[in-house]
Amino acid sequence: MVEWPTREGEPMAWKNALKSKRLKPGKSKMVTIGLNTFMVGQLDDTYFATEGLCRHMRWPLAWGGKIKDGCIRCPLHQTTHHLSDGSLVEWSPFPLIPAYGKLLGKLSKPKDLKIFETRVEGDYIQIQLDEIKS
Ligand code: FES
Repeated sequence: MVEWPTREGEPMAWKNALKSKRLKPGKSKMVTIGLNTFMVGQLDDTYFATEGLCRHMRWPLAWGGKIKDGCIRCPLHQTTHHLSDGSLVEWSPFPLIPAYGKLLGKLSKPKDLKIFETRVEGDYIQIQLDEIKS
């Protein structure tokens, strides 16, 4: 494991997330490291990692989340974020019943999705973490 100082002097670390052969192109999986949950996926030829739970109402994003046009869309109320930087695209639009989505959207403040750096080291996809509870 490689560690180096962050800007604040705190150590950052690469953590094994899962074996790369367990992840098929276009798919994603939930991974738990310490007390944190992540979604790790493969898009085109690159891997990505995000926090694992939707920022709206904490649905596990790999459980039915759709990846399209470089974005992840939660299956519950269709909150959507860019995978490149986690920025919010849509907050709880729930197109099936938009008024219901709007109401649910007001239950929590819109937030961006945290994105983590990834790399392949040996057989593993690793995630770079700076703050982790264990
Ligand atoms: S829990 Fe994901 S959009 Fe509501």
